[in-house]
Amino acid sequence: MLELFAADTFVKKEIIQPAKSLTGAVEPPGDKSISHRYAMFAAIAEGASELRNFAAARDCHSTLGCMKALGAGVTVEGTTVKVAGRGLHGLKSSWHTLDAENSGTTIRLLSGILSGQEFTTKITGDESLQKRPMRRVMTPLREMGADIKARDENFPPLEIRGARLKAIHYQMPMASAQVKSAVLLAGLYADGETQVTEPAKTRDHTELALAEFGAKLSKRGLTISIQGMGVNGGAKLLAKSLDVPGDLSSAVFFVAAASLLGESDLFIANVGLNPTRSAILDFFIQMGARVSVLNLQSKQGELVGDLAVKGAALKGGVIAGDLVPLLIDELPMLAALGPFTERGIEIRDAGELRVKESDRISALVENLQRMGAKVEERPDGLRVEGRSAGKLRGAEIEPRGDHRIAMAFAVAALAAQGETTILDADCAGVSYPTFFNELRRISKS
Ligand code: S3P
Repeated sequence: MLELFAADTFVKKEIIQPAKSLTGAVEPPGDKSISHRYAMFAAIAEGASELRNFAAARDCHSTLGCMKALGAGVTVEGTTVKVAGRGLHGLKSSWHTLDAENSGTTIRLLSGILSGQEFTTKITGDESLQKRPMRRVMTPLREMGADIKARDENFPPLEIRGARLKAIHYQMPMASAQVKSAVLLAGLYADGETQVTEPAKTRDHTELALAEFGAKLSKRGLTISIQGMGVNGGAKLLAKSLDVPGDLSSAVFFVAAASLLGESDLFIANVGLNPTRSAILDFFIQMGARVSVLNLQSKQGELVGDLAVKGAALKGGVIAGDLVPLLIDELPMLAALGPFTERGIEIRDAGELRVKESDRISALVENLQRMGAKVEERPDGLRVEGRSAGKLRGAEIEPRGDHRIAMAFAVAALAAQGETTILDADCAGVSYPTFFNELRRISKS
């Protein structure tokens, strides 16, 4: 039998051969963004929470490690995580520096919580995280009263000395769910009502999850308000029993692969379809993808459903403006699809991609070129030519330690000519540890 893939455990690379279809059923791991939030909020709630279908993502386990170091009880049994909450004011200082590893969500959201504590915390991360900008959270948190030191005033390690915080109205200069969340979490600890206004809509899992745990929030247009609980002795977050929906940002690699391969017929079960995340599906449908949503239901404030995907000819398109923050994590996949589309893919207004787990614009351009694509790099995006520019050929892909780059090019490789090697493929574990096994299981040559 012909081996589609071969995993080399020593150099951690994956070899991918072209395939004809993706068939059968797959269920993505629990949502990464939601798992981070449930873990953090359970730790500052009163009582024992149970979080089911918790993300397998390495990032979310970095969050669990930090919450444990801050005194929360954390037990992991498969994908069920039990958290013994310490209450809003029950966290304790950690004697060692917290390690957010590769996770921007961990360090930025936790900065909000740590700003309201009566102790000082040091937090850092891996080589990639130490290059990512933190000033974006330091500015509003300092305005609220926290004392935060950073390397070169912008980069981890951070040293956060908590304080009695004051409420502010923060106009965010960039559309970032992480910045919005950091301010709202500090707002939980502030006197009075904290408000955040976003320049464009971003994912709202923090708002939905905080409301589930008992915080008081309201929303008007692009402004979210939260009532501080810090000084009102009686106010508290309460433990919850919650199911994490599957991660649409992980499922999207299968949506893309199934669309690309003509004979595909794929069922993707239990996918989170929160409207601040699902713009990617609308975009696929607009491009001509055959994707249908089944069994849509609401679970603890989050929408969940199943997806059915069949092969289709994709048109391509432009992603720009307010659409960008709604599908920011799916842009690597869309760019890598570009050469297989009729009109190609153009991404504009996405300078944020340069400060993700890697400089994603540069990583996409380099690897697309390795596969023979015609691509133009721009400061805030890129333009990838469509099918008329020629077929992609298998190549050696260098993901630069970035999970989404590794997975996006694994998908492109299925529809390319010849064999592709994804170097350092283990980095996929940051969001989807079993990705390559699952892809191998459902792809047919
Ligand atoms: C996330 C927000 C986004 C996204 C990241 C997860 C979150 O980052 O790219 O993968 O869980 O809040 P930004 O807030 O920096 O845009």
